[in-house]
Amino acid sequence: MTGTALEHLEEMEAQARQGSDPERVERHHAQGKMTARERLEALLDPGSFFEMDTFATHRAREFGLDQNRPLGDGVVTGWGEIDGRIVYVFAQDFTVLGGSVGEAHGRKICKVLDLALENGAPLIGLNDSGGARIQEGVYALAAYGDIFYRNTLASGVIPQISIVMGPCAGGAVYSPALTDFVVMVDGTAQMFITGPDVIRAVTHEEITREDLGGAKVHHRTSGVAHFTAGDDAEALALARQLLSYLPSNNAEDPPYLSPTDSPDRTDEELDRLVPEDPTQEYNMWEVIQRVVDDGEYLEVQAGFAPNLIVGFARLAGYVVGLVAQQPAVLAGVLDIDAVNKGARFIRFCDCFNIPLITFTDTPGFMPGVAQEHGGIIRHGAKMIYAYAEATVPKLSIITRKAYGGAYIVMSSKHLRGDICLAWPTAEIAVMGPEGAVNVIFRRELAQAEDRDVVREQLVQEYREQFTNPYIAAAQGYLDEVIAPHRTRPALIRSLQMLRSKRLRRPPRKHGNIPL
Ligand code: HXC
Repeated sequence: MTGTALEHLEEMEAQARQGSDPERVERHHAQGKMTARERLEALLDPGSFFEMDTFATHRAREFGLDQNRPLGDGVVTGWGEIDGRIVYVFAQDFTVLGGSVGEAHGRKICKVLDLALENGAPLIGLNDSGGARIQEGVYALAAYGDIFYRNTLASGVIPQISIVMGPCAGGAVYSPALTDFVVMVDGTAQMFITGPDVIRAVTHEEITREDLGGAKVHHRTSGVAHFTAGDDAEALALARQLLSYLPSNNAEDPPYLSPTDSPDRTDEELDRLVPEDPTQEYNMWEVIQRVVDDGEYLEVQAGFAPNLIVGFARLAGYVVGLVAQQPAVLAGVLDIDAVNKGARFIRFCDCFNIPLITFTDTPGFMPGVAQEHGGIIRHGAKMIYAYAEATVPKLSIITRKAYGGAYIVMSSKHLRGDICLAWPTAEIAVMGPEGAVNVIFRRELAQAEDRDVVREQLVQEYREQFTNPYIAAAQGYLDEVIAPHRTRPALIRSLQMLRSKRLRRPPRKHGNIPL
């Protein structure tokens, strides 16, 4: 090889790596943002990134683009390693053509998505883009369509994580929305279908970009963002942490970590955790922390529907998915947001061989006109469907209330829960005592002279009859009633027993989950 050819390659590489002009990069840094390559360096194991399509350029001529053909076309793609495991990556470079997606840019992303799918490794996309490249017209739209199609094909085969680190507007939002997890950087990431200007023109509403589609809004209100991070570095570290709980593909098991926490550990504090007064709240996180390995977990969608907890943890070194009511928020009621959050998480765990551990303490589905008119019927059906369809090991513990439909929904025997446990404080009935007495003793109460005293007596009778788990245990609907302090060993022994679980569903193209 001639020295000149090598020099030319080195020049080209340097030109590509430089990305944009230094002024733009400076402006980018001034916003607290890393460049695309800096982000990949922080995300991947040191020195593991292998870049592809460094010299790809667009072929558009319109609106002056023929004079502006940056190498790489505004996106850095390739593969690298996280904790020694292969991942495929793309990072949009906002300093080059606003990170906008044209034909070549889209083709680069599709190439890594195809490789990720064919080789069974996760895809992590770092999004920072002005959206469809306006000058490339339908070619830009086609590029998005090609990405969406691949996101959909890859769904349930490989984990897909989107980190939004800048603007993500218009149809561009649907690539992250099709992936499994969305991380947004607080203050710099924004996602919306139509921005404030269009909204002002159409609905006459005034709103800032941040209030419309910032990280906080999507984490707490819309439920679009599973995680938020204070800055780029935190978002990238979060993605690494998340990946430590996920298998590389749907044919593998999640990473096992040799445990230091004893599988036989009992915890007497659990025996005192549920308050005597059934209306008094307690923190379900305390239960979870006392049960899982070293009290460590990763909560998912923490800010959205906090009355339901979902997240990952480990039991005896094996990854588990947690679904639990939070009695400290709205008494752990199941509302529309909670069931959507739960159903999506259950389906993710089922796709990727992650056993489900359910902790139940709920008064049931949320009553109210807004909930009924908002479609709690079709939304609640998603959670039933997700639990019933899941074939991973399903373990549950009723800590206190399991009333009505919520008893059935929360991984019950009737939806083929594998091991259903309860603490002695469990209350299983069609509805809570007050509501039940008002219905079944309506006539007696109407005729009673001292109505309140009679009602109180009847409530007491109902409680004595139903606020215990032994009726369900007598029928085998519960496999065992256990002392709370034994929860960790009981779950670990049950998981060991279920390790070889193989359950097949009847062949079908796919089910029709209520959406
Ligand atoms: C081409 C774009 C671009 C785009 C930004 N740029 N977005 N070029 N196509 N979509 C360019 C700008 O012209 C500018 O180039 C450079 O990127 C930086 O952009 P600025 O506007 O200076 O940055 P900033 O002030 O930070 O504003 C960022 C922004 C804004 C909010 C993203 O650029 C913007 O509103 N862009 C348009 C967003 C949009 O409407 N996209 C289309 C959505 S529809 P110069 O050379 O001047 O510095 C869509 C359809 C997808 O995506 C459909 C899929 C189904």
